[in-house]
Amino acid sequence: MEKILVMDFGGQYNQLIARRVRENHVYAEIKPYNKITCSEIVAEGYKGIIFTGGPNSVYDEKSPHYDPEILTLGIPVLGICYGDQLMAYMAGGEITSAENSSEYGKTTVRVKDSKIFKDVPTENICWMSHTDYICKAPEGFEIIATTDQCPCAAMCNAEKKLYGVQFHPEVNHTEYGNVMLKNFIFDVCGCAGDWKMESFIDSSVEKLSKDLAGKKVLLALSGGVDSSVAAALLYKAVGSNLTCIFVDHGLMRKDEGDFVEETFKSRFGDNFIRANAEDVFLGKLKGVTDPETKRKIIGEEFIRTFEAEAKKIGKVDILAQGTIYPDVIESGKGDSAVIKSHHNVGGLPDVIAFESIVEPLRDLFKDEVREVGLKLGLPRELVFRQPFPGPGLAVRVIGEITKDKLDTLREADYIFRQEVAAFDCEGMTNQYFAVLTDLKSVGVKGDARTYGYTVALRAVTTDDFMTATFTKLPFEVLESASNKITNQLGNITRVVYDITSKPPATVEWE
Ligand code: XMP
Repeated sequence: MEKILVMDFGGQYNQLIARRVRENHVYAEIKPYNKITCSEIVAEGYKGIIFTGGPNSVYDEKSPHYDPEILTLGIPVLGICYGDQLMAYMAGGEITSAENSSEYGKTTVRVKDSKIFKDVPTENICWMSHTDYICKAPEGFEIIATTDQCPCAAMCNAEKKLYGVQFHPEVNHTEYGNVMLKNFIFDVCGCAGDWKMESFIDSSVEKLSKDLAGKKVLLALSGGVDSSVAAALLYKAVGSNLTCIFVDHGLMRKDEGDFVEETFKSRFGDNFIRANAEDVFLGKLKGVTDPETKRKIIGEEFIRTFEAEAKKIGKVDILAQGTIYPDVIESGKGDSAVIKSHHNVGGLPDVIAFESIVEPLRDLFKDEVREVGLKLGLPRELVFRQPFPGPGLAVRVIGEITKDKLDTLREADYIFRQEVAAFDCEGMTNQYFAVLTDLKSVGVKGDARTYGYTVALRAVTTDDFMTATFTKLPFEVLESASNKITNQLGNITRVVYDITSKPPATVEWE
């Protein structure tokens, strides 16, 4: 399979670069610059290399550097931003830092005739974000673009197939960014562009069915996109040797547990097991109000329930997980402060005996996982399901959790989601839900005093959920949701809209 290496020097758009390459049907993988050697690069047979941006200056002692031999391998290289400067530095050019020449944002760039600028107008808008710049291109390199501030906005050594751009072709603000990337991928690297989802499915199924022949495979199915698509792909490969366990903790949204069961029971038959553990979970959560304690109890109970079900099915050879590419990249990074102990199935490997783990989606981005899901015939409702936290509604019922409160929240959340859909606003928000606060207040319904709970509505706009802004949903949506929630739910007196961004708040309330 032809592939491009995205060599990670710590830039913020690294995943985006890989996605842009893949959108052109060429497989791209991201590797930290210090985790791959020149001989490994050659052995892997990469058709091209992209050096990413990064926050450093090439002259900083601690800044990431690489063996200059990479420029002599005969493999085309495209350096972006810091990657461009690093290439210049390695090849003997000069870089300078001049505060008053820094460029941020949309910048007019004038380009010269070059393979990488085929079909790009002489003057075009590019996205810049730099303080340092190349003041002297290395010997053998030609300057092929300039801006008012930047004497070398792009350079190349066409003979050696080495290209560098100071701007970011991967971001949408660079008008002709995709044309430039295409030029690099196809004209410079000579890729054919035959990496398609169909071929991914075919080759995965072929490999999985060979590797897992005769083995019993077990998967924890949450009903989320990743584990559902992993299940569908594995089922295609190993059929009834796959068993999926869906732990229903009773903390799902309205009708969600039944929907998951309907979707998978019809496909997998007895190999889909729904463990109805609502009573056990609610029992363990009784009287608990501390958010972290709730999360820990749910995480532990999830593992216990899964373990008990797994033991019933006997020997298991392989544990399957719905890990996707961003999880793989993220886990390679250092520790950051624990804001919330996210619950996922990370604890599972410790509780059951198995030979190895298989992660059939570990090379795919989320949108690619969705494409695979659709191609495998999973319902759109599931494939485009918005993110839902592992501990479910437990982190959206503030204070003590009871079945009544959960049922009230399920209805309020359902009404809100219906209204967002009715006003055609699903596309303007990335996650939206209701929260049942622990706050009671006075109201009046039909001339009588009421004293009931407050529902908070939350909708956020975000790329990666690490930061988010609250979505400016039209007042009509909020008004209609508020009316319906207070009319239909007797114990709700008040509805408020959460207008906090992340940070300082988090997306979930607990
Ligand atoms: P926070 O609240 O941390 O949420 O800003 C960011 C995103 O993560 C989801 N979330 C979770 N997902 N297990 C998950 O799989 C969890 O324990 C969990 N907690 C929060 C949240 O819904 C949002 O999309």
